[in-house]
Order: sequence, then C-alpha cells, then structure tokens
Amino acid sequence: MCGIVGYVGSKKACGILIEGLKRLEYRGYDSAGICVYHDGKLCIVKSPGRIAAVEKKIAGNVGIAAGTIGIAHTRWATHGEPNEANAHPHCDNAGTLALVHNGIIENYATLKQFLIAKGHVFRSETDTEVLSQLIGRFYNDGMRVLEDAVRAALTEVSGTYGIAVMSLREPDKLVVARKGSPLIVGVGSGEYIVASDASAIIEHTANVVYLNDNEMAVITRDGMRTMTLDNVPVTKEVQQIEWSLEQIAKGGYEHFMLKEIFEQPEAVRTCLRGRLDLRDMRVLLGGLEGVTRELVKTRKVILTACGTAWHAGLVGEYLFEDLARIPAEVEYASEFRYRNPIVEEGTTVIAISQSGETADTLAALREAREKGAMALGIVNVVGSTIARETDAGVYLHAGPEIGVASTKAFTCQLAVETLIALMLGRRRFMSQSMMEQYITGLAEIPDKIAQVLQQAEEIRKITEEFVRFDNWLFLGRGYNYPVALEGALKLKEISYIHAEGLPAAEMKHGPIALIHEGMPVVFIAPRCATYDKIIGNIEEVRARKGRIIAVATEGDEDIRRYCDRVIYVPDCLVPLQPMLTVIPLQLMAYYAALARGCNVDKPRNLAKSVTVE
Ligand code: AGP
Repeated sequence: MCGIVGYVGSKKACGILIEGLKRLEYRGYDSAGICVYHDGKLCIVKSPGRIAAVEKKIAGNVGIAAGTIGIAHTRWATHGEPNEANAHPHCDNAGTLALVHNGIIENYATLKQFLIAKGHVFRSETDTEVLSQLIGRFYNDGMRVLEDAVRAALTEVSGTYGIAVMSLREPDKLVVARKGSPLIVGVGSGEYIVASDASAIIEHTANVVYLNDNEMAVITRDGMRTMTLDNVPVTKEVQQIEWSLEQIAKGGYEHFMLKEIFEQPEAVRTCLRGRLDLRDMRVLLGGLEGVTRELVKTRKVILTACGTAWHAGLVGEYLFEDLARIPAEVEYASEFRYRNPIVEEGTTVIAISQSGETADTLAALREAREKGAMALGIVNVVGSTIARETDAGVYLHAGPEIGVASTKAFTCQLAVETLIALMLGRRRFMSQSMMEQYITGLAEIPDKIAQVLQQAEEIRKITEEFVRFDNWLFLGRGYNYPVALEGALKLKEISYIHAEGLPAAEMKHGPIALIHEGMPVVFIAPRCATYDKIIGNIEEVRARKGRIIAVATEGDEDIRRYCDRVIYVPDCLVPLQPMLTVIPLQLMAYYAALARGCNVDKPRNLAKSVTVE
C-alpha cells in the first residue's frame, strides 16, 4: 500500500508534497520520490528508505524548491525491491511525463513485452513503469492532451490504481484517476491537493472531492474537471473532512498506537453517541434506516473481513446468534472471494474494515453482491470505497487510526456489531427489560474501558517480566476466544514475538504439547458460564509449569490461586466483555514491542491498509 500526493497552485509545491508524504508514511515506507515542474524541466528525486532520505537529497535542488506543481509518492514494494530505480515517480522513455501510482497493474508483464517489442527501454522492475511508458506511447504518438493519453492507456490495463500524472508539454496540469485504490482531491482557493487519504490534505483544506472507481480528474490552477474513464463528465459534490489536524497528530503520546489505545473510552463514547436512546431504551442506526425492514427478516448473516476486523467479525458471529437469534458465519474475505460461496436468498453480508479499502474485503463484498446478498458495511474511514459500495452501513466514528496495529477500531467495531444485534434482537424476540439491561450495560462501557487503562503501568511491569520469552499462547472461551486471537495478533505484529490464540478447550487436542517451564500463557477468563471450565484449562497449563497471566473480573479473588499474574477488568454483561478484556492485551503488545525496541507505529513488513491481494 503506497501513499500518493499531488499539488497544483501558487505556493511552492515541494514543502507541501513532503509534508503530505510524511502524513501518509504509515501507508508504506520503504522508498519515496518527488517530481516538481520548474523552468521547462521535470525535476525528480527518489531514494530508498524513509521520506527523510528524499528530503536530504532534495536539499539545494533549486528546481524542486521553486516549482508550484508536483507529485510525490511513498512506497510499499510489491513489484521490485525497495531501491532508487523502483521508487516512484516513473517516467516514459522520452521523459515527457512522470507518474506516481498506488495499486497493482496485474497485466503488466504482457504490456511490458509489447512495449519492449516496440523499442521501449525499462529502468525499473515495477509494474508502474509499464503504465508511464504506455501513457507516454499514446501521448507521443499523436494524442494532444494528457488526459486522452491517460484514458487510452488505462483502458489497456487491468488491476488497481490511484495515479497522478504530470507532463512537460502541459506543465500546469495534473491528471489523476482511480480504480480500486483511494484518491481524494482537496479543493483550496486557487489550489488543489490530491492524496490517497485525508491526512495529507486536512492541513490545507477540509473541502474534498472523493473520486469513485473508474473516474478521473483534470486539475489546473483554474479549476477541476471530473469525468469517467469513458470521458462522460461527472459532477462531484464537495464534502467536508470530519477530522482535525490535531486529531491526526500524536497528542503528546510517544506513539500513535498508545494514543489510540487511550482514546478508546472517547472513541466508543462517540461511536455510541446518538445511537443509544437512553430515554426510550432503544437503538437508533440512521445508516441502516433504509434497509431495516429487510434486515429484520434476514435469514443469515455472513461477516467478512481480514486481520483484526475478522476477529471483530468472529465476536459478531456470537452476538448475532446470541442477541438476535440469527444464524451467523464469519468468513476470511480472502477465502470467501474465491470459494464460490453459497449465498442463499435472504442472506446479509457485512463487510468490516477500518480503512474501507482492504482489497480482499472489497472483493468479498462485490462477490456477495454479485450473488444477490444485501451488503452492509462497518467502516471507519468516511467516503472509503467499501463504504460507498455497500447498500447501507454504520460508520465507527472512531477518528483517524494511524498506528498500523488496529486498536480503537476493534473496540468500536464490537460496539457497532452489538448495536446492530440489539436492534435486530429487539425486533425479533428480545424483551424490553432485556434490551434495557444491554443498553444500560453498553452505555457504561466507555467508563469501564477507562478503568482498565488506569492499570497501564501495572500491565507494563507484568509484560516486562515475560517479554524475554519468544513463544506465547492466548486462550479464551466463548465471546473471549476471538479476543485471544486478537491478543496473539497484536503481540505478533508489533513485537515480533510468536504467539498463538486458541479456544482454551482446544489445548488438549495438541497445542498443550508446546507448554514448557516458564512459557507465558495468557487466559482471558472473566466470569461467564464456562468459567469453571477455563479454570480447569488453567490447571492443565499450571501442571506443565506454564506461567499464567489471567484477565479476570474485578472481585474474583479465587483465580489468584491458580495464576502467576492477574489483570482485572470491571464486571459487565458477557456479550460486552470483549470490549474490556482486549484492552490489557493491546497494552501488553505495546509494552512488549517497546521493551524489545521495535518500531511500534511502523512495524516491519506491515502497512495500515492492504489494498493489494
Ligand atoms: C491489525 O492490527 C492489522 N493492521 C490488520 O490485520 C488489519 O486489521 C487488516 O489489514 C484489516 O484492515 P481493515 O480493517 O482496514 O480492513
């Protein structure tokens, strides 16, 4: 996943482009580059490594410093290793144009052969250079204006793209287009900023235009024209970005991940605001209004997602079956999209995605729609592709999530799933008194999360006691089994410690063989119907000298007898427990990464939004 930025206006482009790249660096950060037009030249600087490396190289470069139109890119390599040649922008052989690209050109190998046969010389191993060469071919072969050449080339390619192109022949123009990768245009006064997401735009303007798939825009200082790839003009509505720059900045925390962990009480409060009617004790979900009648009659819910969002989907499976009595299944989007799934009449598919851009989840959503399912979305990024391609949905309102390891989006995903399950449950079978219990319980969750966060220092000490171990197990039952999976994923992705999450009862069927002296085993063991069973599982591990850390319900003194360390969370209704029991696991992962000197916000090999499959 890469980040692209473009600027055309009256200000010096370089500073704006570099700042924009820094805001997008969480999307990909193995190489970067910039191109600015000045004095009859396309001035290009590229470098492997962070944005800072490019900044160093452009110091003293007069052309780059002076130009008022330019494009830039921060990369997450897919084709060709991270080096200067493969960094963007890429040009055509004649050097007439430069292009930055986020996405994958799937048929690049065929096109490359064709172009080589036509005498084109390639300087990189990337799929992207095929696009710049192809556009150059049309542009230098009689097409007068850049947008025509871009359009002609895009009809030849298959795959995903968000691109920005500029040329020597029309130095006041940017041409941008998208299919499958996000692209937003910030509308300023006499200036435009193009970017992969709002974080690179908000500093300059809150007025934005979201491009849809198969749309392009031609932008000059005098204005912007938007049309489809078939050159049909499109009128675009200018919308407002909700988030402030401050919200995007670290707010005094050392890392975005820690900031976002501590934002959870407020994030969940905002997520529930206007959706929990505490006077009439009901749930209001405006985003589902148009489909509620059909939704209440739904015969089956399929939740599809990837990574942390998939773990939220697994909690959702329990919630829909338990609170709404609707058969539910959770599906890995990457499997669902290719498995030719059976989607019966009356099925609702819910796509869960923080970014709203994850390629596999988007494809699973499209597959479900193809098969006639009603498609809903639970998404955080407003205006993202998944949000716009669903029949209806619920936004998390969790605010921007910058840290690659997802935290507040997860707890807000659980809150939204609970709201939907309660809304359907009440319309299907749930009594008003039961509904009132859940609504009251849900309204108390933000404060209870804040209580758990007060133990951060204690959790840091516990983590540091065990951080030297390279293998951890996370075990839970029922609603807390998905939390065990999430705890393991968090530890893996930012501290690089190998960890596995399992249903606690599965231990006896093999994994118990892993247990050895001192191995840390985290049990998510709050009070619930299977509490005694999990104590039995704890005993099995203790008998094999595993070290036990338990997440338990406040006031449960008994459990101390079986565990080495206990972290308490406030009591609440069982279906709401995952929003509390996950918090200590997020903090454990954070403190383990810190203790091991890992780059918490930019963990190796990972990117925040995976828009390639
Ligand atoms: C979680 O910490 C990871 N960043 C990753 O597993 C993520 O949850 C997954 O890529 C899905 O992203 P999405 O919610 O933006 O679709």
